[in-house]
Amino acid sequence: MRKINLTFFIILLIVVVVSCSKEEAEPLKRVPVLPETVYKYDSIGGQVSFDATAGFDIDNDKATLGRVLFYETQLSMNNRVSCGSCHRQSAGFADHVAKSEGFDGKLTKRNSQAILNTGLQSFFFHDLREEFLENMVLMPIADHIEMGLEDKDYMVEKISNIPYYKELFINAFGDSTVTITRISDGLVHFIRSMISVNSKWDIARENNFVNLNPQELRGKDLYFHEFPCSSCHGGNNLMGGASAGENIGLELWYSDPGTVGIDPVRNVPMNGWFKVPSLRNIEVTGPYMHDGRFNTLEEVVDFYDHGIKRHPQLSFFLRRGTNGGFFRLGESPQDLEQNLLTGVEPLRMFMTTQQKQDLVAFMKTFTDHDFLKDPRFSDPFRSF
Ligand code: HEC
Ligand code: HEC
Repeated sequence: MRKINLTFFIILLIVVVVSCSKEEAEPLKRVPVLPETVYKYDSIGGQVSFDATAGFDIDNDKATLGRVLFYETQLSMNNRVSCGSCHRQSAGFADHVAKSEGFDGKLTKRNSQAILNTGLQSFFFHDLREEFLENMVLMPIADHIEMGLEDKDYMVEKISNIPYYKELFINAFGDSTVTITRISDGLVHFIRSMISVNSKWDIARENNFVNLNPQELRGKDLYFHEFPCSSCHGGNNLMGGASAGENIGLELWYSDPGTVGIDPVRNVPMNGWFKVPSLRNIEVTGPYMHDGRFNTLEEVVDFYDHGIKRHPQLSFFLRRGTNGGFFRLGESPQDLEQNLLTGVEPLRMFMTTQQKQDLVAFMKTFTDHDFLKDPRFSDPFRSF
């Protein structure tokens, strides 16, 4: 009797130990923790005199769903990567590496882009290949490097089986049915709400620049008048025109050709044309350029100062004889024409050390510290 009892006790002990250690090994559950009253996304950006939503009506419940989807690792093939893995809020929704790691450990072809004021942009990706944000937001999920979830039915099934989405879909759409269009819709409302218009620069524009210090004011003059920066990174969003990229002469010939198409002036395949990015939050979105080749703004400025290459398709704004489309003193339209016909002479800016520092100081006024900390855009997931 005593012996049986002992055997029984030992078996019980083993069972308890095994089940305990099993419990310990169980991964933590990631669950979104959302505010009791839904965050207001529909009034962001009201403090400036232009409409950063571009007339798009942001719905608070759809944006809330989009926020959860944006940080949802289960939208990737192996449940490890979310949009937020490569688009980090503290980095202006870019990230701090030249190429980002996708779900399978492979690296993306290009540098992760900052996300902001998408309402003011007409084309997406470095090569401007996508016009509609509605299509664009689903691409990273299916991308074989980024998130790897190619099968749309499986995506819908996965999201349908996660309990916390039920209420989010009901709030956003009136019932809990998950569809691809609704997933895209939620993400679009969230991304459209990522409006960044509260930088020192924005405040300066509304107040006759009284809040800029002498160095920033000198930088502003250089940016808008002395050097051609604002010809490309200009306007309310400090970015280029909508429909075409520019070739800035990073290389003599680009292995990543960028925009696909025919160069309208020379009638040859385009090479090295990339989206002119908005310089908002540029202080925190490095490394820079489509391939993340420059780590600091100082390196970028050095490149523009004396590093522009003689690429046959180099933008006119960066050739000698032009200053952002204006002629330099002593140079005529004939000189310009000559330059364009006879070969490419890249612009050399001959910046002093002081000018370089002033330019960088000025670009740092584009940082919107509220945007980088706004809880409405933060990761709602907590592990339990
Ligand atoms: C593995 C990293 C990675 C993940 C995950 C990822 N992205 Fe990206 N994202 C990038 C890269 C790299 C680019 C630039 C791609 C290109 O130009 O070809 C980009 C570009 C973008 C752009 C274009 C911005 C512009 O200014 O044109 C948006 C918007 C965007 N991503 C949103 C998302 C969303 C939404 C998700 C989740 C569904 C997501 N990304 C997931 C790396 C990532
Ligand atoms: C001809 C148009 C043009 C002009 C002029 C121009 N840029 Fe750019 N800029 C671009 C393009 C296009 C890119 C992106 C190139 C790439 O991704 O490879 C870029 C990229 C940048 C970046 C990095 C952005 C990022 O997110 O990686 C910075 C910073 C920058 N430019 C600053 C400046 C400054 C400062 C000047 C003036 C000295 C200037 N640019 C003049 C077109 C221009």
